Amino acid sequence: MPATPQQSTPQQSTPQQSTPQHWDTAYAQGDTTRGWYQSAATVSLDLLRESGVGPGASILDIGAGASVFVDDLLAAGFSDVTVLDQSPIGLQIAQERLADRADDVTWIVDDLRQWTPPRQFDVWHDRAVAHFLLDQDDRDCYRSSLMSATHAGSLVIIGVFGPQGPTMCAGLPVRRHTIDDVNALLGPAFTITSTTTIDHVRPDGDTQQYLWSTAIRHTD
Ligand SMILES: C[S@@+](CC[C@H](N)C(=O)[O-])C[C@H]1O[C@@H](n2cnc3c(N)ncnc32)[C@H](O)[C@@H]1O
Repeated sequence: MPATPQQSTPQQSTPQQSTPQHWDTAYAQGDTTRGWYQSAATVSLDLLRESGVGPGASILDIGAGASVFVDDLLAAGFSDVTVLDQSPIGLQIAQERLADRADDVTWIVDDLRQWTPPRQFDVWHDRAVAHFLLDQDDRDCYRSSLMSATHAGSLVIIGVFGPQGPTMCAGLPVRRHTIDDVNALLGPAFTITSTTTIDHVRPDGDTQQYLWSTAIRHTD
């Protein structure tokens, strides 16, 4: 007698969320193999230089994770550097890499959407963070933190997936950005001063299109 086929229950797959645990797990697999890894923050440093920002400026790198941008800033003589991320593991990798130099950096573990900035910074830097914010509420919270953490004259450097960028990253859905999307994210207090698309070569050899922009805050 043929066996009765077993009725299978459909698998419920939980959509991945951009939680601290999600990012801790990603970093625990090795920061240098992650798709967003870069061995030097060349684009960010070039944009800082082209914007006339010198080492006396205060820099806030939001969603920095294990990024080497902080290493490059310290090497370039910047002494007022703050790094924020919701993933303690991502920040720990950067701290261990920097060793003693980690003491020269302010480290903040927090979710930028609910963070209350303790001060204002001359530069707000975001590489590969805002494109994970899909809901309008989250984007409004981003702009609220941006407004609290900057002053008239502050510079924003932002690199997010461009119109030809991927639709998923780190197992999460992401938003492709046009320049209008970046403009809307930053809000009316900011004027975009430059924009360019640059292909990032991932550690596995694939490329991803980033839309890089600089913007100046022109009002309080
Ligand atoms: C793709 S990685 C980019 C890391 C880094 N900016 C770089 O260029 O290497 C995205 C980072 O954003 C952080 N992140 C995502 N959403 C965040 C949030 N709401 N608050 C703080 N950090 C966040 C993640 O923990 C992760 O470290």
